[in-house]
Amino acid sequence: MNDERPLSFDEFDEAVNPRPEECEFDRVVERALSRRGFLGGVLAMGSFTAVGGSLVPSGASAASDRFSFEAIPTSTADEVIVPPGYKAEVMVRWGDPLWSDAPEFDHATRGTAASQERAFGDNTDGQDVFYHDGHTLLVVNNEYTNRDILWGNNPDAKAASDDDVAKGMMAHGVTVVEIANTDGKWAIVKDSPYNRRVTPQTDMTITGPAAGHDLMKTVTDPTGTACKGTWNNCGNGMTPWGTYLACEENFNGYFSAADENHEVSPELQRYGVSSKDWGYGWARIDDRFDVSKDPNEPNRAGYVVEIDPTDPNSTPRKLTALGRFKHENAESVVNNDGRIVVYMGDDERGEFLYRFVSDGVYAPGVDTNPLLENGTLSVAKFNDDGTGEWLDLTPETTGLASAAEVSVHTRQGASAVGGTTMDRPEWVAANPNAPEVYCCLTNNKNRGLKPNAGGDETPAGGPNPREANNYGQIVRWRPDGGDHTAAGFGWDLYVLAGNPTVHQDTYGGSDNVNAENMFNSPDGLKFDNHGLLWIQTDGKYSNEGDFEGQGNNQMLAGDPVTGEIRRFLVGPNECEVTGLSWSPDRRTMFVGIQHPGEDGNSHWPEGGDAVPRSAIITVTRDDGGLLG
Ligand code: FEO
Ligand code: CA
Ligand code: CA
Ligand code: CA
Repeated sequence: MNDERPLSFDEFDEAVNPRPEECEFDRVVERALSRRGFLGGVLAMGSFTAVGGSLVPSGASAASDRFSFEAIPTSTADEVIVPPGYKAEVMVRWGDPLWSDAPEFDHATRGTAASQERAFGDNTDGQDVFYHDGHTLLVVNNEYTNRDILWGNNPDAKAASDDDVAKGMMAHGVTVVEIANTDGKWAIVKDSPYNRRVTPQTDMTITGPAAGHDLMKTVTDPTGTACKGTWNNCGNGMTPWGTYLACEENFNGYFSAADENHEVSPELQRYGVSSKDWGYGWARIDDRFDVSKDPNEPNRAGYVVEIDPTDPNSTPRKLTALGRFKHENAESVVNNDGRIVVYMGDDERGEFLYRFVSDGVYAPGVDTNPLLENGTLSVAKFNDDGTGEWLDLTPETTGLASAAEVSVHTRQGASAVGGTTMDRPEWVAANPNAPEVYCCLTNNKNRGLKPNAGGDETPAGGPNPREANNYGQIVRWRPDGGDHTAAGFGWDLYVLAGNPTVHQDTYGGSDNVNAENMFNSPDGLKFDNHGLLWIQTDGKYSNEGDFEGQGNNQMLAGDPVTGEIRRFLVGPNECEVTGLSWSPDRRTMFVGIQHPGEDGNSHWPEGGDAVPRSAIITVTRDDGGLLG
C-alpha cells in the first residue's frame, strides 16, 4: 500500500480550486464567549430553553430516560463494540457475490470488473429496508472505493489496466439485495429476482425542470433526457410511496481532461470540476468523463436519484427539481396538507441547506412521478436571533435565466439570494413525533477564515458559531406553525460537539457533551420509531490532541427532549460509521461500516492479513427485544 494517504474529497477540491487565503470580512473578531453565553441571541428569543435542552416550552416536563442500553466507553480496537446485552455480526461485505454464478471475493486480486458488477459494491453508505410482497429488500449506496485497497495488489497501488479502472467504476453505485432471517441470523438471498446493481453505466431518465435543456445535452445524448449512471451516492432517503432516493455527492472528482491545461467553465468550477480527477481514471475508459470532450456531462450529476427497488427493470429517475449540489441525503416529510417536503444538505464547506416543497399533494394511489418533478426549491437563511427563513430559488429571485438553470446551477442561485453558508450540512432527519428537523453540520476548518467556492463569506455566527470548527454541531429547526411549507422557522443547536477534557471554551462542546460521550464530526443522522435520534460520526480517529479520548468513529443515540446523548457503538480502525436501518420487526438494526483501514491499519472484518472491507452489520439484543 502507499505510505501516502490519498487526498480526501475536501482536500482534493481545495487542491484543484484553492480558495483565497483571506476573506474580505473582518475575521479577527474576538468572540469572548462563555460556553453557556455564546448562544445568548438564540436563547433570548424564548422559544427554546437551552442548547442541548428541550424544544418543548419551558415548564413542560421532560420525558423519562428512554435509552434501553448502557453507554459504552470509547475504543481504538479493530472491531465493532456494542453495549452488554447486544450483539454485532457481519451480514454483507464489499465484493460478496449477489448471484451464485459470480465468484467469492478474492483477497489476492480484489476481483475484476465483471465480478464486481455481480457483487455488493464498496463503501456502504446510506441504506433503507423495504418490505415488499413478503420480501425484505435492503437498498444501499456504495459511495466510492479506496483505491489503495482496491488496487493494493498492484506494486504502486495504481490501476494497471482498463479492467482495474472498470472494477473501480463497478464498485460504485447502489446495491439492491434481498435479505432473509434464517434461524435468527440475517443473510443476503443470492439469486433473488430483486437483486440488482445500479452502477455508473445504468440507464437513467432525467426528470424535472432541467430535462431536455441545452445544459443537459451531450455527445451521446442530444435529447438531454437520458443519462447513464449514478456515482458517489452518499446519504439516502425513502419516499412515502416506497421508493429509494440515492443522493449524488462528490460527483466532480471523476471528471478530467486529456489536456491538463484545459480550463473548465466557472460554472463547473463552482462544483469543483477540473481537468484533474481524483485518481479513478474513468476518462481512460469512457469519454463521458473527459470534460474537454463533453463539457455538459457534469451537469447531469449532482442530483437525487429515485429508484424503485421492487422492480429490478425500472429506470432510475434523476430528480433535477431537487437541485444540483453535493447532495448528502434527502429527508422527506408529508406535510399536514399532503405536500411532500424534502430537506437536503450540500456537504461542502460554506455551502447551503435546502428545502423542496412539491406543488402536488400525495395520497396513496396517486401518480407520484410529478410530485418530485414540480415544486419550489428554497435555501435556508439563519438569523442570529434564533429565527430563520426559507428563500425561494426562482429565475426572478436568483437572476438565473430559467427554472432549468436553477436546477443545474443551484449553488449559484443560493449564493445570489443570500442563503447562510453552513459548516458542511450532512444528514437531515425529521422527528416523527414533533414538527422539528435536525441536521448534522459536520465540521468546517474554514469557518471564519475562507469564503466558499462561490466567494460567499463565512463569518462565525448563528448555527455555525465557531471559527476553524473541527468538531461540528447539530442544528435543529421548528417550522412556524408546525407547517413544513412555512417560510419561517425557529432554530437552536441540539449539540455542539467538542472535547471538554482539552478545551474550556466553546470548543469543549455544549453542556450535553462530556468526557464519557464526546465525539467529533457528526454525519449520519436518523430517528427511530420511538423518537430517539441516532448520530453517526465521520471524524478524526487519531485519539490525540484535540481528539484525545474520542477513539474510533462511533454511533450514539440522543434524546431530543432531554438532550442526553449516549454512545452505543464504536467501529473498527479508520472506519466511518454511516447508514442505518431496521428490519421490519424492528428487532434488528443494520449499520454501515465504511472504509475500515482507509489509512492502511485495519483488517476488519476478517482479521489476520485480510483485505479490510466495508460491510453492513446486524445489531440485535440478546433478549430479542426491539431496537427502535
Ligand atoms: Fe459522503 Fe458528506 O458524506
Ligand atoms: Ca456522510
Ligand atoms: Ca462526512
Ligand atoms: Ca464517507
